[in-house]
Amino acid sequence: TNPQETTDNKLLQICELLKEAIAYYDWVGFYFKNGDKEELKLRSYAGEETDHTIIPFGKGICGQVAVSNKNFVVPDVQAQDNYIACSISVKSEIVIPLFKNGENIGQIDIDSETPDPFTEEDERFLEFVNQEVAKIL
Ligand code: SME
Repeated sequence: TNPQETTDNKLLQICELLKEAIAYYDWVGFYFKNGDKEELKLRSYAGEETDHTIIPFGKGICGQVAVSNKNFVVPDVQAQDNYIACSISVKSEIVIPLFKNGENIGQIDIDSETPDPFTEEDERFLEFVNQEVAKIL
């Protein structure tokens, strides 16, 4: 196994752990900037398969975080106009940018089937997860 595969596997385990540990985390994935392109690419996820493996910068919640460098908490996805629906059962979403050496290189994206479940505690926790993940990239 090459180093890339080892990291992919660690990211997958983190996604699975978060999804299993927290009842309202129904889909957990890591997107990263795709090389030199102005787009995100899905690297690892736990939950239902998604068609949205590539997301252009600016599109959807994820694409907006790629350019804003800021956390995006969406209590009700139906109230968002720049939103990419993955599954009709999703009610809410949280996206936290992942920084390496001060640069926004990707994000953790979590979908929930519970309305308005995300608190500042989720934001602080997921910021911590991303900081830890940055160390293995
Ligand atoms: N809802 C996201 C797209 C990714 S799926 O949630 C897996 C968005 O609006 O960017």
